[in-house]
Amino acid sequence: MTEQDLGFVHRWVPGHGSPLTALVLHGTGGDESDLLPLGAAVAPGAALLSPRGKVRENGAPRFFKRVALGVFDQADLSARTDELVTFVHRAAAAYGFDPTKIVAVGYSNGANIASSALLRHPGVFARAVLFRPMVPFVPDPSPALNGMPVYISAGRVDPIVRRDNTEELVRVLTTAGASVTVRWEEAGHALTSGEVQGASDWLSDLDRPPKRPRRYTTP
Ligand code: MLT
Repeated sequence: MTEQDLGFVHRWVPGHGSPLTALVLHGTGGDESDLLPLGAAVAPGAALLSPRGKVRENGAPRFFKRVALGVFDQADLSARTDELVTFVHRAAAAYGFDPTKIVAVGYSNGANIASSALLRHPGVFARAVLFRPMVPFVPDPSPALNGMPVYISAGRVDPIVRRDNTEELVRVLTTAGASVTVRWEEAGHALTSGEVQGASDWLSDLDRPPKRPRRYTTP
């Protein structure tokens, strides 16, 4: 399938043994290939759909424009979010995956467009795993997320995402009715293997509750 067919340069990896499709969304400077291993680690066996962001910031791919670090061009974010959701719908038809079983797996800029998509288009994802996300915008009125499971993995010493910004995102999502799990990792903006495993455990336990509850979060 080409970019012209679906609208984004992307990678598609068929699933094996999982009904889920992971929409893998890279950070600033990434591309459609670099987070495929992350998607496979978080959602083993799931199909992987990974687009490349269309915006270029000094040559670095992103999913939407920003005015400064953490200050987003809201008009561009809105339009790019809609474009990404259209891509996801087209890809579901083209590759034949179930559009009700999509888990967004986003890192940084990719996590930010994922949360923009789920706030603007409730139901587009069945669940979301957001690594180092920020508040994309504050929706008014709040959408109805009807218990949608969201996992946020944040770094305690992240130089890009401030703690209060993460807490505000938790508030926005919880107010919208999402079921939010937050893990605070002893880390900066880069991910650790422990939090990737934590996200994978959380995701698999949604469909297969463990006999003894696991800890996904850190105090
Ligand atoms: C963003 O612009 O989405 C955030 O600042 C994270 C980043 O990409 O650096």
